Amino acid sequence: MALQDRRKSTKGVVLTMQNFKNRLSEMLEEQIRAAFPGAEISAGDISDMLEYPPDSTMGDVALPCFKLSRTLRAAPPAIAAKLSEAAFDPSLCAVSCAGGYLNFKVSPEYLLGSVLSSVEEKGERYGSSDVGKGKTVCLDYASPNIAKPFHIGHLGTTVIGHSLKKLHQFAGYNCIGINHLGDWGTQFGKLITAYRLWGNADEVENGGVDALVALYVKFHAEAEKDDSLNQSARDEFKKLEEHDEENTKLWKWFIDISLKEYDKTFKQLDITFDSYAGESFYTDKMPEQVQLMRDKGLLKIDDGASIIDLSEYNMPPCLILRSDGCTLYPTRDIAAAVYRKRTYDFDKCIYVTSNGQSLHFAQWFKVVELMGYDWADELVHVPYGTVSINGEKLSTRTGNVVLLRDLFSQAIDKVSALIKEKNPDLENSDEVAEAVGVGAVVFHYLYNNRTKDINFIMEDALSFDGSTGPYAQYTYARTCSVLSKAGQPEGSAAVITADEEADVLKAIGKFPERVQAALQDYEPSIITRYIIELCTAFNRFYHNCPIMTAGDDAVKNTRLRITKAAGTVIKTALGLICLRAPEKI
Ligand code: ARG
Repeated sequence: MALQDRRKSTKGVVLTMQNFKNRLSEMLEEQIRAAFPGAEISAGDISDMLEYPPDSTMGDVALPCFKLSRTLRAAPPAIAAKLSEAAFDPSLCAVSCAGGYLNFKVSPEYLLGSVLSSVEEKGERYGSSDVGKGKTVCLDYASPNIAKPFHIGHLGTTVIGHSLKKLHQFAGYNCIGINHLGDWGTQFGKLITAYRLWGNADEVENGGVDALVALYVKFHAEAEKDDSLNQSARDEFKKLEEHDEENTKLWKWFIDISLKEYDKTFKQLDITFDSYAGESFYTDKMPEQVQLMRDKGLLKIDDGASIIDLSEYNMPPCLILRSDGCTLYPTRDIAAAVYRKRTYDFDKCIYVTSNGQSLHFAQWFKVVELMGYDWADELVHVPYGTVSINGEKLSTRTGNVVLLRDLFSQAIDKVSALIKEKNPDLENSDEVAEAVGVGAVVFHYLYNNRTKDINFIMEDALSFDGSTGPYAQYTYARTCSVLSKAGQPEGSAAVITADEEADVLKAIGKFPERVQAALQDYEPSIITRYIIELCTAFNRFYHNCPIMTAGDDAVKNTRLRITKAAGTVIKTALGLICLRAPEKI
């Protein structure tokens, strides 16, 4: 039963090390039944027990026999010893035992015949699958609030969101990327008021978002002293809601100015969206949903506001309408979800935001369910940890922010200087500096488990030593340079003569299952860490296994094939976490 389930979940996937484990589990089931007659054990149970040992000198895959000892009524070392005498297909693996562990080494035949040839056959599609074929996923990410700067707080939603989009596409899903712009709300009343009092067109046109932020900050400072400004802001927003021509014009202009700025950052990340429908888009779609809530008897009036009581679900009430009738953030999200379901007929709608919004999503997901929509369980919130700078919380109001564009340009400048020093003749050096600089920041960010809170330290993001984006990109460029110097591999002659060769192939063989794991956990860091694992194996191989002077043709050809395969997988994996892979650095 267990095995059947797993097989269903990996249908259509080329899982090369996973295939190895599946085949091994089937063989082990047979051997266990033979050695311990009457044993109640399935290949699925065994597959769950198999591990990749942290130290591969013992084996590539291990079966710890501790959990088996009850079922088989024998001590773990005795089980391991007995099973190590059984006959395992040598074209698949070699077996040995150590204490309570049964250790397996993948055979060279399997690595060459299955892993290497799989990559060669599939090329940049190696690791992809069709598990999502015929299914649609909406991904709501980035979604900045208009007239606010794009700062490192937005890095998470943007790169986690886009990486999840790429991972889903790679698994065959039809993906709709949505930038749910925060383009509606009282802040526009504030901006309009501030602009009329203190702003002018040239300043805003030239200063862009910075000028808008300055107006916003000034509004808050002045409103502390003069409360009438707040009333004026509410009035201006009300006029905007009533389609006042002047205010609508200003509002559209503020959006254009902000988008122009955000687009520069999206371009550096190669991100485009399929929809920019922001909060304002749902203005005329909310009444229908509010009416449905009323019809279902969900709405309660509390101090003039309309709320939905969620105490039964241990949550504070969800606010639907303010006492003045204005709609709120959850109301807009509910209308947007219904619209997306009707428009795209999604199988899943994913929202990537900081965990500060987890309650908001839990509340309105519950409301959607209570409204009777049977697709409520297709809504998925993917939260990530909060970012602080040098231990302090981010705040637009106090100015404790690092703008993404500043962070990127510092990183790009640093790479440019390095290129000028080390490789002054490099063609497209500006393009490469952007790919490596931006990539360094993204890689650094995506190296962490997404739920972890991050204290962002600039020097760390800009340090290129160790497990970094530049290291990975440099490794890819190295594979390209080997192939351009030594030539492309020719034919299928192959022989494994060194552990380092086998290690690269084993790392490559794990890629498809890492892609599946990253998808399942909505966790791009699984790919980021995998890239380092593969690059480390490749660099060890590169230093210890000469290619040009290999002597034997089959050895040389194998090494070229391994180099090419490693390059292919590094490039694909970098793409999945939004990094480019320049061929020369
Ligand atoms: N604009 C919001 C913010 O900056 C994020 C929106 C997330 N998406 C959503 N559908 N609520 O906090």
